[in-house]
Amino acid sequence: MPGRSLAVGVVYGERRFEITMINIGLVGAGAWGKHLLRNFANLPGSRLKRVCDLSEKVRSTVKATYPDVDVVSDFRKIITDPEIDAVVIATTPETHFELSTLALQAGKDVFVEKPLVLKVDDGAALVELAERQHKLLMVGHIMVYHPAVLMLKGLIDSGELGDIHYLYGARLNLGKVREIENALWSFAPHDISIVLFLLDKEPVSVTAVAQAYLQKSKSIEDVSFMTMLFEGGEMANIHVSWLDPNKVRKLTVVGSKKMVVFDDTEASEKVRIYDKGVDRNRDYQTYGEYLSLRTGDIIIPKIDSSEPLRSECLHFIECVESRTRPRSDGAEGLKVLKILAAAQRSIEQGGVPQKV
Ligand SMILES: NC(=O)c1ccc[n+]([C@@H]2O[C@H](COP(=O)([O-])OP(=O)(O)OC[C@H]3O[C@@H](n4cnc5c(N)ncnc54)[C@H](O)[C@@H]3O)[C@@H](O)[C@H]2O)c1
Repeated sequence: MPGRSLAVGVVYGERRFEITMINIGLVGAGAWGKHLLRNFANLPGSRLKRVCDLSEKVRSTVKATYPDVDVVSDFRKIITDPEIDAVVIATTPETHFELSTLALQAGKDVFVEKPLVLKVDDGAALVELAERQHKLLMVGHIMVYHPAVLMLKGLIDSGELGDIHYLYGARLNLGKVREIENALWSFAPHDISIVLFLLDKEPVSVTAVAQAYLQKSKSIEDVSFMTMLFEGGEMANIHVSWLDPNKVRKLTVVGSKKMVVFDDTEASEKVRIYDKGVDRNRDYQTYGEYLSLRTGDIIIPKIDSSEPLRSECLHFIECVESRTRPRSDGAEGLKVLKILAAAQRSIEQGGVPQKV
């Protein structure tokens, strides 16, 4: 348990409990950081002590909404505060390496948004630094905290879907066009982290094609199609785009026994399990085999409606307190980074497969 965290008395009914409060400093309270801020400000077990943002507008919004939180523009005021146990970084990706390094060097546990960083060497250096400092490094791979993804993992691990043949996902919308990282680096960390989590293995090769339409001169690709191949023959295809008419958040998993579609845009019926497949039958006349289609029931399981971001933030707090390795730790972030880098190399070579 971190020595600096506060033990706070909480009265529940007639009993009084002592709970440990982890003091959090958050940097970057923009479009996404404000959601992390809301969660860390309201979680049992964490106290959002200080928020840092370079933007005056963001700072005044935070101050107006959370009058008890200290708001600053200088990151050093977060990392030099001995009361702050952990730093949450939700700035734009090109700043992740420097800010995470400074926070780890200052002896803080770190939660950094995806993508971990933009270069594999920087990611490896961060993982090593966290190990050396005996500090936690967690990456914001929110989808591995999503109740539907956890359910899918249970279905796969229990063998209910049979052998997994292939998966394909789409993460599309007409959305925020970024100016440093392309759509692959912005969106695909989510899908890659899901695939690694579900299959529990890393791909042997990656192929990707992508095009820049909106920022051609800067070669920032708006749309990308990537395919990962695994040793056992499994295949995972991911299509990402911020230049698409429809918001799509869909993953299909095809197993030898059953198939599943996870549609995250659905309000309640997010997962459908199809008892569909192709069976091998014996032909007793020819002593050969023939294939027959099977179309059985479609099950729509009830999924826990908890907010994935809340579960992710809670997981971080619990790991800080218990000193356990987060599910999406730095090593996991580095695996995703290596796949992104291989996909980018493939894009730059016109779709030539790359070893990971
Ligand atoms: N997990 C998810 O589902 C999800 C969704 C969206 C974005 N993100 C990630 O969140 C991060 C932030 O994205 P965003 O869309 O909120 O960006 P944004 O531009 O809206 O916000 C970034 C904020 O960081 C501040 N900032 C930048 N550098 C700073 C510095 N050195 N010190 C202090 N403040 C600084 C900016 O002023 C800005 O307010 C990115 O890594 C992005 O990939 C994650």
